[in-house]
This record gives sequence, C-alpha cells and structure tokens, in this order.
Amino acid sequence: MQRIFSGIQPSGVPQLGNYLGAIRNWVNLQADHECVFCLVDMHAITVWQEPAKLREHTLTQAAILLASGIDAQRHILFNQSAVSAHARLAWIFNCVARLGWLNRMTQFKDKAGKDRENHSAGLYVYPNLMAADILAYKATRVPVGEDQKQHLELTNDIAQKFNHDYGVEFFPQVEALIPPEAARVMSLRDGTKKMSKSDPSAQSRIELTDDADTIALKIRRAKTDTGVLPEDPSGLADRPEARNLVSIYAALSGKTVQQVLDLHQGQGFGPFKAALTEVVVNEIAPIALKTSQLLQDETHLVQMLHNGAQRAQAIAEPIVAEAEKLVGFVKPL
Ligand code: TYM
Repeated sequence: MQRIFSGIQPSGVPQLGNYLGAIRNWVNLQADHECVFCLVDMHAITVWQEPAKLREHTLTQAAILLASGIDAQRHILFNQSAVSAHARLAWIFNCVARLGWLNRMTQFKDKAGKDRENHSAGLYVYPNLMAADILAYKATRVPVGEDQKQHLELTNDIAQKFNHDYGVEFFPQVEALIPPEAARVMSLRDGTKKMSKSDPSAQSRIELTDDADTIALKIRRAKTDTGVLPEDPSGLADRPEARNLVSIYAALSGKTVQQVLDLHQGQGFGPFKAALTEVVVNEIAPIALKTSQLLQDETHLVQMLHNGAQRAQAIAEPIVAEAEKLVGFVKPL
C-alpha cells in the first residue's frame, strides 16, 4: 500500500479551495492508502500569526478534517511542530537545495511581492520544510491543489540530489495527485486571484465553517459578468469569474464543465447562482455543523493530535535518524 502525506497550514479557516483541491481527495484516498495528514503549524509561522489565533486555527482545522471524513484512528492526523524529525530533516535539506532552485519558486515571489527584504527567512526555505514533511515518511503520493505542483517538483530535485550526493537510493520520488476539476479555485471577488484563507476579505471565499445563509450571501455577491452561460467551455475562456463558478459547480456535483454547461447554457447568473448555492450548501453545511459540535470538546481534539504525533514520530524517527547517519552525524551505537 502506498503512503500518502499531505498538509494544510493553520493560518486561517480552511476554504472551499482547500476542500476541493485537497481535503476531499484526502478523504477518498483513505480507502486504499496509508495516510499521514499534517497541520503544518511551522509553515504557518513563516508569516506572522497571533499565537492565540494559531492555536485556535489548529484546533478548528483538526475539527474540520474530522468533520469532513478524515479517520484519525485508521490514519494519522497531527500537528507538525509536535514531531521534531520534520525540523531536523528540513535543516539537512536547507543544505541540499540550491539557492537557484528556491529563487524560481513562484509562490515565494507571489507572497513576498516587491517587499522581498522584509519577509522571513522561513518563507524563503518553506519548500525545503515541505520536502522534509513528505520525505520523513518516504511518502510517494501527495494530494494537493495545483499551486503546490512546483514545490513537489522541488521535492523530487532535493530527493535526487540527496541520493546522488550520499551515493544511496534512499529517498523515493513523489507523485502529485491533483484533482481534474477545481484544482485552482479562484476568489469570489476577483477571478484572477486564488481563493485563500488568508485573503483580507472574508467575502472572497467560502469557509468550511460558514452556515447556509452566509454561503448564499457570499455566492449572491460573487463577482460575475453580464453575459449568460455559454454552450461549451471555449465560451468561458476570457471570463475568469464565470469559469470559476462553473468549475466549482462541476467539482461539487461530480460533473464535467461541459455537462454543467449542457444543463445551464443560456442562463444568466441569477438562476445559476441559486443552483450553485444549493450544491455548495449540501456539501459544506453538514461539515460546518459537525465542526461546531467537535469544537465543544477541546481536550479530545488535543489528545487526538497528541496521539497522532506519537504514531507519526514512530514512522519518521527511524527514517530521519538514518538520513542523519548517511550525512555523517555521530549517532549512539
Ligand atoms: P495550504 O494550507 O496553503 O493549502 C492546503 C491545500 O489546499 C490547496 N489549495 C487550493 N486548491 C485549490 N484551489 C485553491 N484556491 C487552493 N488553495 C489552497 C493547496 O494546494 C494545498 O494542497 N504548502 C502546503 C502545505 C504543506 C504541504 C506539505 C502539502 C506543507 N507541507 C507537504 C503537501 C505535502 C499548502 O499550500 O498549504
């Protein structure tokens, strides 16, 4: 059975893009994989997080993942900082990855913008920690949204260079599992920007804790053009907002974009938004309700994460200890 690793940053409340790009896939992959899911709190602090908020978001995310169908008994769910193997391997990878490789990372360029000098060193080496997350478990399959593809290519470059430098076939190559529809969900306010849990405007995203009324309001206010839905996907080419809403509908209803257009072509956005609201509410509202129930028992959530961390540690520790030995670090005999 192949091992899956994936992570999500507790830097806010997960949104529909996280769900369609990653979480929903995680839930389905549990049937025939050994899964390790991680709340990457060390990645989150590469940009400033209020300590109380970081803690709150970590527990909320744990609850959301359970409510979405992650099985923390059969699989592993934990927070990154609780397993020190991640930081140790990340340091080795900081010394394997080349500056030129990191300079090409588009996510760093997007996040740092023009004000590069004022961002943390952690943000720059973020992809090395991500490679360490995955390879500390020798995971081979990584379900993510499209925005993480470049980081996974870098992970493979790091694994290859490590193996080459130390003359061993130690780390495997990893495969990105990217969903066919809605691999990149866009903001509801601007169809050229990715939907993000850290966007200052809560109107730009559907959060997985939103109730039915909030979801309906956000979709009603979502930016659109004045046209109608076209006959085929080519009619969405330069209409980013329309394309985004249609692909959200497609992903949630298990249809292709063409099938959605077959059903709704010629319609204006009024009726289409009403239909979209229904499919979003059907999927998200039960998760939001279950999440609020799970959040009543914080002790249980903390205990569940602690238990996950111990099981994660049992897998990662021997792998990272072996990597340290290969590097030449003196270890107890
Ligand atoms: P994060 O928290 O930014 O995103 C978590 C997952 O959600 C996906 N995603 C999206 N998918 C579609 N449309 C969107 N608008 C959208 N926004 C986010 C992301 O692709 C991701 O799969 N760097 C990772 C966290 C991480 C990780 C790892 C992932 C740390 N270590 C190891 C995999 C393996 C991230 O982007 O988190």
